[in-house]
Amino acid sequence: MRRAGEHSWRARAFAWGMAHGTGPYERWMAERKRSLLGRLSGEVVEIGPGSGVNLSYLPREARWTGIEPNPCFHPYIRNEAARLDRRVRLKIGLAEDLGLEDASVDAVVGTLVLCSVDRVEAVLEEILRVLKPGGRYCFLEHVAAPEGSRLRWIQRAVRPVWSGLLDGCRPDADTRVRIARAGFAQLNWEEFQGPLPVVSPHICGFAEKGKVAP
Ligand SMILES: C[S@@+](CC[C@H](N)C(=O)[O-])C[C@H]1O[C@@H](n2cnc3c(N)ncnc32)[C@H](O)[C@@H]1O
Repeated sequence: MRRAGEHSWRARAFAWGMAHGTGPYERWMAERKRSLLGRLSGEVVEIGPGSGVNLSYLPREARWTGIEPNPCFHPYIRNEAARLDRRVRLKIGLAEDLGLEDASVDAVVGTLVLCSVDRVEAVLEEILRVLKPGGRYCFLEHVAAPEGSRLRWIQRAVRPVWSGLLDGCRPDADTRVRIARAGFAQLNWEEFQGPLPVVSPHICGFAEKGKVAP
């Protein structure tokens, strides 16, 4: 089970690797991120922001709070915020318990996060709880290849080593199904192939909380 606030060498190495090694991937995703995040406004909470790779896409008026359990990412986020000359609120914590009021947030952002969280259903419930009616959960995630495919077999086979090296990331995470069943009123996403081997299948889009209580 993941704990927030760990300063282990693994946590440090993962943060360094993400901060220095994802440039080509980010360039590949830039256009999608621009259209996904570029018009968000109000209170925006990002779960697992890593090194702050999404900050530059958010309009300046959006008030951004990052909930990042790995404290070794925090200096990278602060540097990015300083580079962009924008104010941010940053907390050590888990997406399973955001510590925010019910219906207090206009948008929740998460990219490449649900593959690594231990309790995906709990995170999605928490996102629904904090979103205002009509609020959006914006996501970009790599997902499991279709059941029965060769790639799915490979994802399962490499999973133990992959997860061990990459901070608990599951290459065969069935995130698509989990989001679809979470209870959002409206779903809007595209499926596409990303630039990484093993975890090429991706989804990108948003899920909206209903305007009236179910
Ligand atoms: C693969 S990194 C992605 C970072 C960043 N979102 C990006 O797109 O580059 C996964 C991130 O999720 C965070 N994370 C893992 N489990 C989490 C949890 N339960 N709650 C919040 N963040 C979590 C990790 O610390 C890390 O920052």
